[in-house]
Amino acid sequence: MKSILIDIVDWIKSLYLPLAPVEIVVAMDMNGAIGKEGKLPWHLPADMKFFRGLTAGHTVVMGRKTYESIGKKLEGRANCIVTRDESWSAEGVEVWHDWKRDLRKARLNSNKPILIVGGAEIYELFLPVAQKLHITRIVADIDNPDTYFPVAAWKYYLWDLTSKSLQYKDSHNQFFMFFETWTKVES
Ligand SMILES: NC(=O)c1ccc[n+]([C@@H]2O[C@H](COP(=O)([O-])OP(=O)(O)OC[C@H]3O[C@@H](n4cnc5c(N)ncnc54)[C@H](OP(=O)(O)O)[C@@H]3O)[C@@H](O)[C@H]2O)c1
Repeated sequence: MKSILIDIVDWIKSLYLPLAPVEIVVAMDMNGAIGKEGKLPWHLPADMKFFRGLTAGHTVVMGRKTYESIGKKLEGRANCIVTRDESWSAEGVEVWHDWKRDLRKARLNSNKPILIVGGAEIYELFLPVAQKLHITRIVADIDNPDTYFPVAAWKYYLWDLTSKSLQYKDSHNQFFMFFETWTKVES
């Protein structure tokens, strides 16, 4: 009863108070591939540095599979893990079973964007409510990936490219990368 009342109060607040924006952070190859055998299909320190800089001090939201593939929480960030499994838990993370309700709470309680960091199932869930995409476009054609960014849900919306910069390949980073920011065009 108490939790239903809190939900109703949050819902009413969300109609009147400013909500933190929702933004997606993803790295993909030129075909939209994001994963292979439960992991990232590349090791790119420049992208990891970019990711750390973007997400430090923020709330990050990820699917249970992505969390388990990382194997630990991301330090210096509030980690929220989305799962349907009521018995799932991990130390130092917040578990989200009802993503709409939990996202509303997080948006009410944060003054920084809430960052959605994957994987594919979670991107698909949150694309309708995201205002921005931070895409690392990896100039590569990965062999036999098995997980892709959800293209249909992505292309359903119109996006403006609002920034783009190039990261050259070097001895530590085997591919060129573009760091792109796309902003959803409100219709
Ligand atoms: N390139 C990148 O930027 C990037 C970023 C992140 C991840 N990845 C890659 O993506 C792959 C993992 O992606 P994935 O799509 O397989 O898994 P995922 O999105 O990380 O997690 C999927 C899980 O999320 C939970 N879930 C999904 N929809 C839900 C809902 N409506 N309500 C509650 N829980 C829900 C379920 O957990 P339960 O089964 O526990 O119920 C589901 O199994 C890995 O290869 C990873 O390395 C790539």
